[in-house]
Amino acid sequence: MSMVLPSSSLNPPKRNSLTHIPGDEGWPIIGKTLAALADPKGHVEANFKKFGPVYRTHMFGETSISLLGPEANELVLFDQDKRFSSELGWGPILGLLFPRGLMLRDFDEHRAHRKTLSVAFKSGPMKSYFTELDKGIAARIRSWTQTPGEMLLYPAMKQLTLDLAATSFLGADIGPEVTEINKAFIDMVAAAVAPIRRPLPGTQMGRGVKGRKRIVAYFSEQIPLRRAKGGGDDLFSQLCQATHEDGALLSNQDIIDHMSFLMMAAHDTLTSSLTSFVGELAANPVWQQKLRDEVTALGPAADAAVTFDQLEAMPLTEMAFKEALRLKPPVPSMPRRAVRDFTFKGFDVPGGTLIGINPLFTHHMAEIWPEPDRFDPLRFTEDAQRGRHRFAWVPFGGGAHMCLGLHFANMQAKCFARHFLQNLEVSLAPGYRAAWQMWPIPKPRDGLRVNVKPVT
Ligand code: HEM
Repeated sequence: MSMVLPSSSLNPPKRNSLTHIPGDEGWPIIGKTLAALADPKGHVEANFKKFGPVYRTHMFGETSISLLGPEANELVLFDQDKRFSSELGWGPILGLLFPRGLMLRDFDEHRAHRKTLSVAFKSGPMKSYFTELDKGIAARIRSWTQTPGEMLLYPAMKQLTLDLAATSFLGADIGPEVTEINKAFIDMVAAAVAPIRRPLPGTQMGRGVKGRKRIVAYFSEQIPLRRAKGGGDDLFSQLCQATHEDGALLSNQDIIDHMSFLMMAAHDTLTSSLTSFVGELAANPVWQQKLRDEVTALGPAADAAVTFDQLEAMPLTEMAFKEALRLKPPVPSMPRRAVRDFTFKGFDVPGGTLIGINPLFTHHMAEIWPEPDRFDPLRFTEDAQRGRHRFAWVPFGGGAHMCLGLHFANMQAKCFARHFLQNLEVSLAPGYRAAWQMWPIPKPRDGLRVNVKPVT
């Protein structure tokens, strides 16, 4: 019989209650942390080979169970029986800096907040974020066109997504505080994955906690002003007016927590995915040209505004972006904590156990994705997708916690592709391939050197 545990009693299970599950916990205390950090993909693949799709490991001070493959993704993400807590999985990683964000809430409370936030992601508000995104992207591509030659793609993309987030999330009239707010966010996001978890002076975590104080002060001061002013097309103004089912406004604390989390959720994921997308196009000139032909066929001159409807008419671009997300999913693994006992592939796992699923592994399973390391957008034609497990491609997760910003991300990627490809050609130096660090969020170790030149 399955046992339901209240979250307050969710201590990790005793070590020997998991020893029936095959695995290797490595050295005392550090466990397998260093091996996993050195080569996250290779480490999981080696464990799969040795132990199969359910194995025990020990990382960051706790024994956990990895569940691999599409069925595992479905079990944990779809979570029909409410067996897996996202809050208790992500809490140790994100809880200090982004407490009470949407992903750090569970079940009924999560559903109610998700419904309230969803208003800000409906087509009306999305169209106005899009107008700002389009303007910002067009201006940035114009400046890149004026400075052809070698550029470091990752930092340039990071700056772009940050600047775009400032306008579409906070509003075009945020004013001189924007630099300070952006810096506070960068410090918070960097600290979320810092190895030293205590906010000691001089550490990333110390800077992150200071950044959070600045952000909390900014939002606290702005909420009453935005509410009094009313209207406003940006995400923050939308949340200031959003109401729960009973008509009550979100509390100030809820707005602060949701805004901080949303900006974090959008920032590194978009930077990572747009960088890998352009990196793949630079390495695959034939596909780059196919996409350029597609965006050029949309019509107007190279710096004209992209319309919302044109985004629907970019099937090859959509497939290429999906393929980039397959190769380098910005969230390569996802943690949960079981709140009930469960059984998977014949293994009984007690409630309280920390669980991990792994999109990066699933996205490279050769039986689903032949020649898994090859960039091939044709994997996402309707025909090719037919019959594929629906949890075989999960860059945005799935089920109750599926990415709320999925359409926002696709919209930004297509808008970027349109302006970038109509104006610039991108290439890599002969023989050069950037090395990527794949965890916690994929990023090229050297920033990814590309060459850009105006389209002739
Ligand atoms: C390519 C870009 C993005 C990727 C790959 C991505 C990926 C993900 C994934 C995998 C999750 C679920 C994690 C889990 O279940 O453990 C998630 C959740 C979330 N994402 Fe995204 N994300 C992206 C962009 C964005 C953007 C642009 C926004 C906001 C505008 C956003 C907002 C959120 C939110 C609010 C959640 C929590 C949803 C919930 O718990 O109900 N994401 N994202």
